[in-house]
Amino acid sequence: MDLSRRPRRLRTDGIRPLVRETDLSASDLIAPVFVDATTDQRQPIESMPGHERVPVDEAVARVEEIRETGVEAVIVFGIPDSKDERGTRAWAEDGVVQEATRRITGETDAYVITDVCLCEYTSHGHCGIVEECAAEDPHLTVENDETLDLLGEIATSHAEAGADMVAPSGMMDGMVGTIRDALDADGYEDVAIMSYAAKYESAFYGPFRDAADGAPAFGDRRHYQMDPANAREATREVRLDVEQGADVLMVKPALPYLDIVAGVRDQVDQPVAAYNVSGEYAMLHAAAEKGWLDLDAVAYESLLSIKRAGADLILTYFAEDVAETL
Ligand code: PBG
Repeated sequence: MDLSRRPRRLRTDGIRPLVRETDLSASDLIAPVFVDATTDQRQPIESMPGHERVPVDEAVARVEEIRETGVEAVIVFGIPDSKDERGTRAWAEDGVVQEATRRITGETDAYVITDVCLCEYTSHGHCGIVEECAAEDPHLTVENDETLDLLGEIATSHAEAGADMVAPSGMMDGMVGTIRDALDADGYEDVAIMSYAAKYESAFYGPFRDAADGAPAFGDRRHYQMDPANAREATREVRLDVEQGADVLMVKPALPYLDIVAGVRDQVDQPVAAYNVSGEYAMLHAAAEKGWLDLDAVAYESLLSIKRAGADLILTYFAEDVAETL
C-alpha cells in the first residue's frame, strides 16, 4: 500500500484556511422581508421562527436591522390590504411593496430587489389570471399571455418606487422579455432582472405560503412551475431567460436542487442565485428545537454548500444569523 499521498497533510489548522475552495460572506446573501399592509404591528411567522411580517411603517427599521448584520441586499414581498381576481393591488402606486420600496430606498443604502408575482394579490392565490371556471375544472390553467401584461405593470411600478432589481417568480413563459421591454420603455434600463429561471413545483414552499398568505385556493402550481423530476428542462428555462435579457438566473429551491445549481453554473457565464426556501429553513429550526441539530452549524454548512455548488448569491432566511457569525 502506497501511503505517500496523504490528503490529511492539508487539513492541519495552519494550512486549512489557505486551501479552502469556497468562501461565504455577508455580501453573498439576500434577506427576504415581508411587508404586510393589513397590520400595524409586527407579526411573528409561526412556521419561520425569528421572522416577522412588518407593517409598512416598520419596513425601514426592519431593513436597518438586516444591514447591521452586514447583509446589504433585501428582497421585498408584500401582503396587500385586499385581494381580487386579477391581483390589481400588485401594481398599485400606493401598493404595499411600492410604499415599502419607496421608503427603504429613500432612507437606507440597501440594495432593493422586489418579487414580481401575483399569487399574494389574487383572491385565488394563483400566479396570474385564471380561467373563470377554474375552481371546478381540474385542468385549470393560468393564462400565460394575459398574465404577462400584468407582470410588466408590476415591474415598472416597482421600478418607479425605486427598486434596484426585480425578480419575476411566476414561471410564465416570456416573463423576462416582457418585463425587460416594459422597463426599457419607461426609462428603467438600469433596473436589473433576476429571473426565478428554474423554479420547481416544490413542497418546500409551505411555510412561505403561510408567511405571505399566497397558497392557491384550489389546484396546484404544477402547470407552470417545473416538475422536480426534470434537470435538462432547467437548461432550457435558463437559456430562454438569458435570451430574454435576465441579468441573474435563479434556481429554487436550493438544497434539494444542488445538481441544478451546479448545472446552471456550468452553462451560463452570468451570476447564478439560489433560493434557500422557507421549508429548508423551517426543517432545520424544527430539528434544532428538538435538540437534534446544532442550528448555527447546519445553517452555515447549508449556505456554504449552496455556494460550493456554484451559486454566487443566496436568498436565505438565515441571512442575518449567518452573516453575524462570519
Ligand atoms: C411566489 C413565491 C413563492 C416563494 C417565493 N416567491 C411561493 C410559491 O411559489 O408558492 C417561495 C419562497 C419560500 O418558500 O421561501 N411569488
